Amino acid sequence: QVAAASGHTVVLVDQSEEILKKSTKGIEESLKRVTKKKFADKPEAGTEFIEKTLKNLTTSTDAVAVVHSTDLVIEAIVENQEIKSELFKTLDKFAPEHTIFASNTSSLHITQLANSTTRQDRFGGLHFFNPVPMMKLVEVIKTPMTSQKTFESLVDFSKAVGKSPVSCKDTPGFIVNRLLVPYMLEAVRLFERGDASKEDIDVAMKLGAGYPMGPFELLDYVGLDTSKYIIDGWHSLEPNNPLFAPSPLLNKLVEEKKLGKKTGEGFYKYK
Ligand code: 3HC
Repeated sequence: QVAAASGHTVVLVDQSEEILKKSTKGIEESLKRVTKKKFADKPEAGTEFIEKTLKNLTTSTDAVAVVHSTDLVIEAIVENQEIKSELFKTLDKFAPEHTIFASNTSSLHITQLANSTTRQDRFGGLHFFNPVPMMKLVEVIKTPMTSQKTFESLVDFSKAVGKSPVSCKDTPGFIVNRLLVPYMLEAVRLFERGDASKEDIDVAMKLGAGYPMGPFELLDYVGLDTSKYIIDGWHSLEPNNPLFAPSPLLNKLVEEKKLGKKTGEGFYKYK
């Protein structure tokens, strides 16, 4: 959405037409929200902006078929090292020489993903934040093999889509998630111990620390499955780090398919 809105030609690739339809609908709704604010006094310009953005956006279920005419691949599939590596390995065979590969992973090693390809110098991390149309940050991750030219291209692309890039080495969670995920898990542990209710913890962090959402609201917003993937991955890397300890309550909710806002229930219920 943000790439198309800033004039880039985008092909959104996913597993089925059904998912793509849902994604496109989500983008259209989000564009309406953005436009309402951006073009408050000029509804016609707003309509034109939406039309222009949607013209830049097509969809496909065949990544191999579209990658041959792609300058930049931004992967944002399931948070699983093997599945991501497999996808990159395949795309590497069909992408042009100059094409840069980037992963939006929140927690996996970019270096390991890059090693599934033959273009380690044209590979980096490009980590966006939910909700992407609103959050200004992008973390640009440079591995020891990422070339300076690739890094600069990723920084330039981030700016071209209207974001503020920061850079971080290829370390677990980069900057934001390395701080945010242990904080959210600490909130769950506080609740699990019965020290405070989840409602009071959320109110406390909003009114006492000025956060726009409390930790339970944010966990539901990000998705409990995504949060679990992150913490499980880090726990396997550093089993003795108490900040990375898995949470029985989070595991239980994920097992019950209560994944947060997207499934209608997580820590809270949504209509
Ligand atoms: N698309 C377009 N616009 C959106 C939007 C979307 N998906 N979501 C919210 N907005 C807009 C609304 O239209 C509204 O615009 P307005 O000011 O013109 O009315 C504005 O954002 C504010 O929205 P709301 O009034 O509905 O609610 P809030 O004031 O609470 O703002 C929020 C919503 C921007 C999501 C805010 O609550 C927030 O900043 N929350 C924290 C988000 C956060 O921490 N994100 C990072 C998560 S970690 C992550 O993503 C990393 C990953 O790897 C796990």
